Amino acid sequence: MIQAPRGTFDILPESAARRKVVEEQTEKILGAAGYRRIETPTFEATELFSRGVGQATDIVQKEMYTFDDGGGRSQTLRPEITAPICRAYLEHGMHKLAQPVKLWYLSSCFRAEAPQRGRYRQFWQVGAEAIGSDAPETDAELIVLLADLLDALGVKGTRLRLSSLGTPQTRAEYREELTAFLRAHEDELTDTVRSRIDLNPLRAFDSDDRRTQAVMRDAPLLTDRLNDEDAGHFAQVRALLDDAGLVYELDPTLVRGLDYYTRTVWEFTSDELGAQSGVGGGGRYDGLIELLDGPPTPGVGWAAGVERMLLAATDMVPPAELVDLFVATAKPDGRRTAFELARDARRAGLQAQLELAGRSLKGQLKHADRIRARFVAIVENGHVALKDMASGEQRELNAREVIPAIVRGDRSL
Ligand code: HAM
Repeated sequence: MIQAPRGTFDILPESAARRKVVEEQTEKILGAAGYRRIETPTFEATELFSRGVGQATDIVQKEMYTFDDGGGRSQTLRPEITAPICRAYLEHGMHKLAQPVKLWYLSSCFRAEAPQRGRYRQFWQVGAEAIGSDAPETDAELIVLLADLLDALGVKGTRLRLSSLGTPQTRAEYREELTAFLRAHEDELTDTVRSRIDLNPLRAFDSDDRRTQAVMRDAPLLTDRLNDEDAGHFAQVRALLDDAGLVYELDPTLVRGLDYYTRTVWEFTSDELGAQSGVGGGGRYDGLIELLDGPPTPGVGWAAGVERMLLAATDMVPPAELVDLFVATAKPDGRRTAFELARDARRAGLQAQLELAGRSLKGQLKHADRIRARFVAIVENGHVALKDMASGEQRELNAREVIPAIVRGDRSL
């Protein structure tokens, strides 16, 4: 039997209902702050990610699904959506719109990672990006909006970690300082960390190796090296979050897996999730648009994993599906009337289902009960017996009278 590829999954109707809650809440919460939905293509030119996300990142080095499109062009299934949105911002001249341009998305992403609970090869991200503003209010507002979304969905055990990475120049200087520090302690580091000293020294803070962790306790911290402007920006973001009553932990070692970040970065984790605890995260990316050949343009945003949010929202129960009417037929000669009645009912705005499996009348009533239909219309020779499933009461009606009776929620039945 052919099965879905490893690390992918089918979204069956039961889970589709929970995912719909994510979509509705996102639309409500981000829509209320003026964010509008955007959808970009499933694949993009590989160069967008190698330049945008960064050559040194795990994503670009080993997690991308890259293919030749048949015309000698290298394309990649999007591993994330921030770079595509910046590409779209430039391609559609969105700098001419009122700034910042505020966008949200809910789309699938692809990363060739080792599958485990909460980590898949095709997964969905909901995210928000604000391009064209460097105001600290934008960062704080985005963080609050993500907190609100997690809250509205009932994501449990959340914690927020926050840091600032400063500007590229501060980062470059700090990088040199950190590289020198790591070189001086080379013998105490794991092979992986040592091999990454030049490529990405910050990753050393991520190591789960004890000796490396001991070394890193004395390592210089980027947050101590921020210039006055960046430190000021970060202080304002924190003050706004404090005013909003948001609890966060300052974590100067917070390293996100993408290279485009500048200034504010953050990550929400959930204690419900085990090893893959990152439920959503983001940050500022003031240099990304320029990296993609655009004019200097600040940007900030976040993305959260739909599957991880749902795994951690253990109590979320989607609203029950409603069936107003099930149309049953007692005799074959009622089939055309039944078909018409179901169609008219839907046109009148009701949820109506028709018997499609050739069940006996008894079987049809049982099925109507199983799908929790409020009413069953039993069609027979032009007459209809309308049964209220809650009270069990039944009344003979003309076919024409059935829909008005249901719309009235007829208590006289
Ligand atoms: P990211 O942290 O790489 O950030 O991914 C965001 C979220 O996607 C993660 O917190 C996690 O919930 C989910 N996620 C990532 N990989 C997987 C996976 N293999 N399986 C299931 N869920 C996963 C970004 O992608 C940035 N573009 C976020 C951003 C937006 N920064 C600024 N704007």
